[in-house]
Amino acid sequence: MRRGQRHKRFHLRTFGCQMNQHDAEKMANLLHHEGLRPAADAVGADVVVVHTCSVRERAEQRLYSELGVLCALKQQRPDLILGVGGCVAQQEADGLLARFPGIDFVFGSQNLRSLPAMIRAAGEGARSLRVDYEESDARFDLPERHPDFGPRSPGRAFVTVMEGCDLFCAYCVVPRTRGREISRPANSILEEVRELASKGVVEVTLLGQTVNAYGRPRPGRAPGEVSFAELIRRLAKLPGIERIRFTSPHPLFMTPELEACYAEVSELCPHLHLPVQSGSDRVLERMGRRYTRARYLEIVAGLRRARPGLALTTDLIVGFPGETPEDFEATLSLVREVAFVDSYAFKYSPRPETPAVRRGLSPVDPERAQARLERLQRLQAELTERAHAARLGSLTRVLVEGASRHGGGQQTGRCPEHRIVNFTAPQPVPAGVFAEVRITSVTPHSLLGEATAQRAGENLEQLQAPRGPAPRELQLPVV
Ligand code: SAH
Ligand code: SF4
Ligand code: F3S
Repeated sequence: MRRGQRHKRFHLRTFGCQMNQHDAEKMANLLHHEGLRPAADAVGADVVVVHTCSVRERAEQRLYSELGVLCALKQQRPDLILGVGGCVAQQEADGLLARFPGIDFVFGSQNLRSLPAMIRAAGEGARSLRVDYEESDARFDLPERHPDFGPRSPGRAFVTVMEGCDLFCAYCVVPRTRGREISRPANSILEEVRELASKGVVEVTLLGQTVNAYGRPRPGRAPGEVSFAELIRRLAKLPGIERIRFTSPHPLFMTPELEACYAEVSELCPHLHLPVQSGSDRVLERMGRRYTRARYLEIVAGLRRARPGLALTTDLIVGFPGETPEDFEATLSLVREVAFVDSYAFKYSPRPETPAVRRGLSPVDPERAQARLERLQRLQAELTERAHAARLGSLTRVLVEGASRHGGGQQTGRCPEHRIVNFTAPQPVPAGVFAEVRITSVTPHSLLGEATAQRAGENLEQLQAPRGPAPRELQLPVV
């Protein structure tokens, strides 16, 4: 860039899951390497990219209202470059370019690396579309993370290990928007995590649409070099890595080998988000989930034997076509039986070209579905409250993320079980550092506590033996 020439500014608007959030980090890095710099909002940007989610209809609608606003902005400022990426882009492709003349480019979830080229083309007045599915693992090759767009908060980072989904659950658009399952080479994952650890990352969250399918043998394909369980074991050995999480696993790939990791790998956090969707075998079968209620419960029992105290959370869908009151009761009873610490419950939303829509299945009446959703959420609120109350008085280890949005000098972070812990401390604890916190009260959504005088004794080692270089616990004065 010549002296005096201003850097172009970009603004990314991201919707959807953690994979999308992480893809946004990847895009920000690509654009940084391309010489662009971030803008706080669309008004201050030369390039705006909306990064979309299509999992439920409401998510898609949010894009359309957002695009309405951005296209109006572009009418005032015709030099504004406007792009749409992610799952709606993959799904609607050229339909988006046709419907919104203000859009300069549309790119799918496997085409992140085309972003700089599409921006350059738009600068020369060309509109472009890149939504090809890429079978190779080249999509995982991205430039080095710049500190500003690296880990989402100090100490923690997302790492993609696989992408795509081959399961085609009847309700789900993801196999269409994310394409076929592909696992990333283990060496490249290990290298990335080693590099992150050298920059102070202590917690990694491994990402994939069916993350624990990683490396599985599949007909007509070479098996991966290592299984998901083996990948976890290797990552746990990297100096500095103290916490390993992953999302989202599928019950079908909860192997005995992976269960054993919960007993043997202390870095693997005592929390698992294991989507169940329904407690009724009839509905699970119609959804094409490939497990039964009994199998799900067996997995839960095995995991709890391996790691007593494991916190389980889940996803649930109510109102799937044909769900009877008895089916719904079965979901309530499963939720009660597992005693999930938390769950995300959704009303079934018909998605384009999914098996359920192609079969012409009609959803449960919306009012009934709404009533079921509310009952399920009430039950969950009780279970969450009970799980939180059981933590009162206990000590936990919080990876600090920064100041709490509740103010009052509180700080916030996550405990190993992935609950939000807001706490006070005699002095601010830097983000990315562990704090030992005693839980003194609870709310429906979080735990509240006080940081204890750390390392005054043995308590931290008892909680979770840290390993690797430079212990990052903050030395607070003994109070
Ligand atoms: N890969 C994950 C889920 C990804 S989508 C898995 O297999 O579990 C995240 C959640 O959105 C799903 O678990 C499901 O509960 C919900 N979901 C997906 N499609 C949906 C739809 N059509 N209607 C309502 N909820 C849906
Ligand atoms: Fe969707 Fe099912 Fe694949 Fe999960 S496993 S992404 S719910 S199709
Ligand atoms: Fe949404 Fe695509 Fe993620 S549909 S949930 S952004 S994989």
